[in-house]
Amino acid sequence: MHAIILKNPGEPEVLTWSQVLDLIPAPEQLLVRVKAAGLNRVDLLQRRGKYPPPPGESPILGLEIAGEVAAMGKDVTHYQVGDRVFGLVGSGGYAEYGVIDAKTAMLIPNELSYIEAAAIPEAFLTANEAIFTLGELKAGETILIHAGASGVGSAGIQLAKQAGAVVFTTVSSSEKMQKVAALQPTAIFNYKNQDFVTEIQTRTQHQGVNVILDFIGGSYLTRNMESLSAAGRLICVGLMGGATAEINLDVLLKKRLQIKGLIMRTRSLEDKRRMAEHFKTKWLPLIANRQIKPIIDSVFALKDASKAHAYMEKNIHVGKIVLEI
Ligand SMILES: NC(=O)c1ccc[n+]([C@@H]2O[C@H](COP(=O)([O-])OP(=O)(O)OC[C@H]3O[C@@H](n4cnc5c(N)ncnc54)[C@H](OP(=O)(O)O)[C@@H]3O)[C@@H](O)[C@H]2O)c1
Repeated sequence: MHAIILKNPGEPEVLTWSQVLDLIPAPEQLLVRVKAAGLNRVDLLQRRGKYPPPPGESPILGLEIAGEVAAMGKDVTHYQVGDRVFGLVGSGGYAEYGVIDAKTAMLIPNELSYIEAAAIPEAFLTANEAIFTLGELKAGETILIHAGASGVGSAGIQLAKQAGAVVFTTVSSSEKMQKVAALQPTAIFNYKNQDFVTEIQTRTQHQGVNVILDFIGGSYLTRNMESLSAAGRLICVGLMGGATAEINLDVLLKKRLQIKGLIMRTRSLEDKRRMAEHFKTKWLPLIANRQIKPIIDSVFALKDASKAHAYMEKNIHVGKIVLEI
């Protein structure tokens, strides 16, 4: 089969379309003829050699796939060749074929295309795990979702709204603000010319928000803590603004804050199966009937993965960038 491979870490041009060894599914896996694969921010880090795949995973990039079942391991009973499936993979999405654990895979609802399905797993499963499992967001509570134009952010806004929360979000430009407005958060702040701490204090009558979904990390820690309410929960899923920061524990104690972290990729197979099962029951029906939508910014041919990476690095996209075959 062919795949996008990475001979040496570096700029987008290091991604090349090459012949690689064919895959054989393990007993509990599906072999999937990939039709579309989602691009994720961490793919850029992996390309630069800063985010190696977990032990045992393929060195081929790509964390989510949608496609057609081509073959099955001997212990798989509930799928047939030709079924349309999608889901999270530990690695290996940028290829003509991928393998996925059969219990982590989900059937694509008839209403969704392969491209839409490939845009769902990382963004929506991450947002669901962060906001609800870790953040314990409840109806009527308030949440600040940073990077509202990101794949995960655009998913999180929709899930939080659907759950009956008041949703605030941040973006870096008026163009992104216009597009994110279509998701109908309660308010959007352009962090280039608005101070989100002041805005949150004003909008919450100085109570702060119950939950923050954060991708920025170090450079936002103090301001995030200032923006939280008493017993607020800060869920850290990305470190785009650095990994280290000084923390004022006095604020943590007095406000009884919780700070929690999440990495999806290294979660156990059991956890990934649980997350997929939960997602399938709770959110997939709402996606199938279009109450919630994967936001697709653009689609590139898989062979042009280098162009897709260069485009993501420009930071002008809103929602997901998808590769198709
Ligand atoms: N922990 C996990 O398991 C997990 C899983 C999936 C994703 N993530 C994390 O979630 C975040 C979003 O991922 P994604 O794939 O959805 O990304 P994405 O679509 O590429 O969006 C990233 C957005 O972050 C904003 N941003 C803020 N500060 C930035 C900076 N210093 N550099 C670049 N962008 C910056 C940008 O929007 P503005 O221009 O509006 O600022 C950008 O559009 C990433 O940090 C990723 O690592 C974590």
